[in-house]
Amino acid sequence: MTKPSVLVTRRWPAAVEARLAEDYNTVLNTGDTPMSPAEIRDALKHYDAVLPTVTDTLSAEALDVPTAQTKILANYGVGYSHICEPSARELGMTVTNTPDVLSECTADIAMTLLLMVARRAGEGERELRAGNWTGWRPTHLVGTKVSGKTLGIIGYGRIGQEMARRAHHGFGMDVVIYNRSQVAPDVLAKCNATQVDTVDELLPQCDFVSLHCPGGAANRHLINGRRLDLMKPDAFLINTARGEVIDEHALIQALMFDTIGGAALDVFDGEPRISSDLLQCDNLVMLPHLGSATKEAREAMGFRVIENLNDFFNGKNPRDKVI
Ligand code: DGY
Repeated sequence: MTKPSVLVTRRWPAAVEARLAEDYNTVLNTGDTPMSPAEIRDALKHYDAVLPTVTDTLSAEALDVPTAQTKILANYGVGYSHICEPSARELGMTVTNTPDVLSECTADIAMTLLLMVARRAGEGERELRAGNWTGWRPTHLVGTKVSGKTLGIIGYGRIGQEMARRAHHGFGMDVVIYNRSQVAPDVLAKCNATQVDTVDELLPQCDFVSLHCPGGAANRHLINGRRLDLMKPDAFLINTARGEVIDEHALIQALMFDTIGGAALDVFDGEPRISSDLLQCDNLVMLPHLGSATKEAREAMGFRVIENLNDFFNGKNPRDKVI
């Protein structure tokens, strides 16, 4: 039997690429650049499976193919808002993602960002590297204590819950959450979390707000100017979810006019392009989408993609089928 043909759109950890090649006719994008809609469209005509990432454009335009050879889009990553859901459904494609295996590492980065912005670690490092540190003094880069403060979590899936675990058990923080659906009492009890009914109810109560909801049209600009105004004037906003969840223009205003304490972002609208206004904000920590960037998580994500492919091509329902 001929092996199914598979296009991997970005380079993966070597161990995963090697395992994939054992069972599939694998084609790698050796240039390791994001694929354009035209390249994706072309790939859909020629491969049984396409294995995209967040950097590939699987828009309605890219998925506008009359007859596709591709039957499964096995995404390398948990978020799949870069895949146009109606178009994938119309083409009868299966879509899978890679949940669980990156939750702890992504929550680690969210906690890193929270600590960095609260304790002004980014500012301190920039000052020191620029040769501007003049020595210890009682009023130098005084930040905000984290322990005992209230953390608001928007989106209480696996990553949100891992963030709560770190904040509550590691730093003694009180946890308030907003989630689309009701969270089971035993899940809330693990971190003594309180669930509120609306984002608007959550924001004014919190010293820190961390976003862990999906991206896509439904949550685009969920945090807009009006909601930023609901935050405490010294509260911090953390985003490791998707850039489009925050209205960046409104955030820049809030940071420039100090209507919130600060923000820390791992994801950006239209990344890797970063607004020059964001770069001017001192009360902002920025990382280049590092949430799942550990050897362990990136390998586990790849092996999870292979598991999904194996299920699919063996006629089973893939474990992580989202469409
Ligand atoms: C994820 O898994 O969603 C990461 O953000 C990379 O896509």
